[in-house]
Amino acid sequence: MEQLKQAIRERGNVLSDQVLKVDTFLNHQVDVNLMAAIGEEFARLFSESGITKVLTIESSGIAPSFMAASTLGTPLIFARKKKSLTMNNDVFVSSVYSFTKQETNDITVSKDFLDAGDVVLIIDDFLANGQAALGLIDIVHQAGAHVAGIGIVIEKSFQDGRKLLEEQGYRVESLARVHQLSEGRVTFVDELTTTKTK
Ligand code: G4P
Repeated sequence: MEQLKQAIRERGNVLSDQVLKVDTFLNHQVDVNLMAAIGEEFARLFSESGITKVLTIESSGIAPSFMAASTLGTPLIFARKKKSLTMNNDVFVSSVYSFTKQETNDITVSKDFLDAGDVVLIIDDFLANGQAALGLIDIVHQAGAHVAGIGIVIEKSFQDGRKLLEEQGYRVESLARVHQLSEGRVTFVDELTTTKTK
């Protein structure tokens, strides 16, 4: 998605060869017009999938998911990382290990909001090692519902997330695929030049 790649180039900040900072438009301050375009793109990609619910994880997944759900005309559910005061014990729970943070967190979704008949689009802001997506997939399966696919705003293609999800047969649609972060520069997968060999 060109508009997103332009935002990453112009307003992103390469912190290291592993981490891209995008708090100017996605992770802290939110560019609502860009989110609207992102939501429309997810809705277009999954328009034939019969989506009934969009599922994400708090907090940075909420903004792009909200716009996708709005365009698809479905509810949005966000998994919680901390159990809320008003949540009863009737929840689906999955453990998510973060390689980046080296910690495991239980994520929860109330059983009131996912049913066996649901067709679910999972959306997240970043795909790194795929652990958050796998946790969300686990929750959808606990509900007996179907995962239609995974929509990602920024995929770090040099990490294992996509491979892991595709190996398990899931459709992964990433709006920007980062091949490399190096010396302050971002290289996208679709910008790699191929050299023809004889
Ligand atoms: P994984 O789920 O794909 O395995 O990812 P990982 O554990 O490595 O990521 C943990 C957190 O770090 C997630 O956010 C993820 O979105 C974020 N993250 C991973 N790589 C980057 C990056 O290059 N740049 C930025 N800005 N974030 C990255 P989180 O802790 O759940 O935070 P939030 O959603 O509450 O903002």
